[in-house]
Amino acid sequence: MTVPTEICYFVAAILFMLSLKWLSSPKTARRANFISMFAMLLAVVPTFVQRVGATTGGALVNNLVIIGGGIAVGSVIGLVSAYRVKMTAMPQMVGLYNGFGGAASLLVAGVEFLYKTQQRLGLSVPESVPVHLSIIIGGVCFTGSMAAFAKLQELITGRPILFKGQHVLNLALLLAAVGLGAVLTMDPLSAWHLPAFIALVAISLLLGWLVVIPIGGADMPVVVSLMNSYSGMAVTTTGFVLRNNVLIIVGSLVGASGLILTNIMCKAMNRSLANVMFGGFGAAPTAAPVAAGAKGAVKEAGVEEAVMVMENASSMIVVPGYGMAVAQAQHAVRELAGLLEKRGVRVRYAIHPVAGRMPGHMNVLLAEANVPYDQLFDIDQINDDFRNTDVVLVVGANDVVNPAAKNTPGSPIYGMPVFNCDEAKAVIVLKRSMNPGFAGIENELFVHPTTMMVFGDAKQTLAKMAGILKGA
Ligand code: TAP
Repeated sequence: MTVPTEICYFVAAILFMLSLKWLSSPKTARRANFISMFAMLLAVVPTFVQRVGATTGGALVNNLVIIGGGIAVGSVIGLVSAYRVKMTAMPQMVGLYNGFGGAASLLVAGVEFLYKTQQRLGLSVPESVPVHLSIIIGGVCFTGSMAAFAKLQELITGRPILFKGQHVLNLALLLAAVGLGAVLTMDPLSAWHLPAFIALVAISLLLGWLVVIPIGGADMPVVVSLMNSYSGMAVTTTGFVLRNNVLIIVGSLVGASGLILTNIMCKAMNRSLANVMFGGFGAAPTAAPVAAGAKGAVKEAGVEEAVMVMENASSMIVVPGYGMAVAQAQHAVRELAGLLEKRGVRVRYAIHPVAGRMPGHMNVLLAEANVPYDQLFDIDQINDDFRNTDVVLVVGANDVVNPAAKNTPGSPIYGMPVFNCDEAKAVIVLKRSMNPGFAGIENELFVHPTTMMVFGDAKQTLAKMAGILKGA
């Protein structure tokens, strides 16, 4: 690497770190995206220029055609899919892109191995270890991400696919892959290196698929986050294969941040990673342990009654959930909040870390509807304020407002942090029925004495409410 290239890599690495920091707040997330795009340019262009400069004659033209063609095709696919993807389909798109990252690592390492062995050059141990790690991690990441994509896209069943001896088989495959990698490292030029290499690739691909299929479809966002981390690790090992510092640094950042996010999601659901990976959550409809208090009567209300309560409040907390995403009700929420604010109601939004089906789901939707960032509050910031709040408007949220998490030991969500909606003076819940949410359990908030249920699609209900306020 030349000195200017290394300087560009160094600056790019710092910008990637800054952008990660800025991604942690909605206020600075947009800037973070632009900075990381610029950093990516700073990493790619010098690499490209240097490689082109190092190539001569016919090879130069061939390489330019292949690289230019790859960039063009990749850009068109990326642009079209980014424009066309629905917000609710974001998790599978991220899953797909993680998988491609894993596949790229596998291919780069595979080419390195095949080239060095065909030329009878062999690989030293420091060269060989990253090659085989890239193949194993990249292969697992590719097919694991494809399985997550297939589940989220409903191409295969979302239910856990379980069979006897599954975990033992997976462990045996992992040991076989590590064993083959070790044997190939010790003797990369043996007579049987090619079949061993093919077996290593096949086992890695099979393992990724088998590790993910026993996990329930609704846990896929956690899996996608974990695969994101794997893709980062695969990029790091590929960085060692290619002796490229920026790949090593960026891969480590992605690997570490993916692991941190996976951990945050598991904690927010009060589940361990082992429970997500091996628990078979969602294998059968969950028996629904309900607190004694959940047996009260459901109080159904009309939109007029709900509007009256909100109009007369001085403070309101909106709790959005997965149903808001399904109904695409974020703009309607924003409109209603604006009308109430004009009448002097202080409106704030309570954002749960696992509301919806992907990290930051609610933040993204509310940002799309131009809800001011300073009205968004994390659970730790706002949970003590519910008791001083006049009305809580629950828009398609269920598990994240279920008091069973506090009151019912044995409930699948017991111990998960939830909003203290039951402490507010009044609660208005917008959903279509009494059906449970993701965890498959009844919700005692819906029969709480201060709760009124307004049944219907959230977007339509909110539009009716706004209509009443506009007409008043
Ligand atoms: P959920 O508990 O899944 O409940 C969503 C509710 O939305 C449902 O009860 C549903 O009731 C209602 N709904 C659906 N469509 C609607 C529509 N068009 N209009 C109005 N309501 C509608 O949602 P939550 O409270 O956001 O909790 C998220 C759950 O997902 C948690 O258990 C969490 O652990 C889990 N999870 C989250 C993530 C991430 S990263 N966010 C990842 C994996 C799992 P009706 O059918 O009666 O309308």
